Amino acid sequence: MKTVNKKNNIFVSKNENELFIFLKKNLNQNDLIIFDKVLVKNNLIKKLSNLNNIKLIKIEGNEKIKSLKDYSRIAEKILELGINRKSKIVSIGGGTIGDLIGFISSTLLRGIEHIMIPTTLLSMVDSSIGGKTGINSKVGKNLIGTFYMPKIVIINLNFLKTLPSREMSCGFAEVIKYAFIHNNKLKTNLKNYDNDKLNLKKLENIIIESIKTKLNFTKDFRELKIGNNSRAILNFGHSFGHAIESLNYYKSSIKHGEAVALGMIIEINISNKLNLKPNSIENLKKLLIKFHLPTNYKKFINLKNINNIFEKIKKDKKAIKNDIQIILIKGNKGINRKISFDSLKKIIINLIK
Ligand SMILES: NC(=O)c1ccc[n+]([C@@H]2O[C@H](COP(=O)([O-])OP(=O)(O)OC[C@H]3O[C@@H](n4cnc5c(N)ncnc54)[C@H](O)[C@@H]3O)[C@@H](O)[C@H]2O)c1
Repeated sequence: MKTVNKKNNIFVSKNENELFIFLKKNLNQNDLIIFDKVLVKNNLIKKLSNLNNIKLIKIEGNEKIKSLKDYSRIAEKILELGINRKSKIVSIGGGTIGDLIGFISSTLLRGIEHIMIPTTLLSMVDSSIGGKTGINSKVGKNLIGTFYMPKIVIINLNFLKTLPSREMSCGFAEVIKYAFIHNNKLKTNLKNYDNDKLNLKKLENIIIESIKTKLNFTKDFRELKIGNNSRAILNFGHSFGHAIESLNYYKSSIKHGEAVALGMIIEINISNKLNLKPNSIENLKKLLIKFHLPTNYKKFINLKNINNIFEKIKKDKKAIKNDIQIILIKGNKGINRKISFDSLKKIIINLIK
């Protein structure tokens, strides 16, 4: 396994057997593996199921499982199976399972070790990094949670062989975000990546660069600062992305990564209107199209629903009274800008008419 970051114990591997050997060697009867049901036919899961000293629980990986109801159901199940303070919980799944099991690990017996094995591109480059755990409340997404670092994160690229292409694209949306807020090398890597066939070697480089970029912005662990190196910069594309996503949530017509793609296009256009000379709208559009992500925001934000979009934006964690902290692109970098809702609305009306 290759070390991506020593301090945070983040490893990456292309070898299918390495992860099995690691888990077999490091787990015992006090430990537990919780995995996404969709992976029952995965070779690693099959081999782990054949080991009779390790307990496995399968759960469904989707947004609905990040609920108080499932938190309590799964936490009770784990306690009934029997764990102690030295137990380890291994999660194998996408971001929904990682967020939920991270939260459970941080609260059971006041915190037990969590070994995270992300299986979607999004969870490999984003949700497994930085130590945010959480579940959803009726009031909003990710409102109940903790900052709790996994003990180890092991990325095995072979999981991506079965990932549906739409999910793959959603992961690339976050990678494109990293390329625009900070990392020019990633822009080149993405331009040179042939998206028609899975190339694990090239993907490995893209994933490592993405993780390094995210780590660069998560030094302020508890997200208390608002400077140009703060965690907030990772929200490029997310102010409008979240608003579009939540307005369309019940129709399930748009996925998170797709909404972020539209959010990035809107927010880079705002950067342009504010004369920040972002580099560049055309390059961003080309990359999004290459990775099968949407760019036509006019279908999702128009004169009919603009008030609803702004209602959502006003509920954003980064909104303060009549202003919002929004992430824009200045040249090659993400920057934090405070802007009033009125000025923002004028710019948006100008963009959509
Ligand atoms: N904690 C953080 O910092 C952070 C950051 C970004 C996103 N998130 C969270 O991550 C979640 C989204 O993560 P996601 O996109 O991985 O969602 P997900 O866990 O729902 O996975 C997406 C789909 O892929 C399936 N899947 C998973 N691995 C697979 C594989 N190897 N082969 C085939 N199918 C597979 C899942 O069953 C699911 O249907 C959201 O809840 C979001 O809030 C958290």
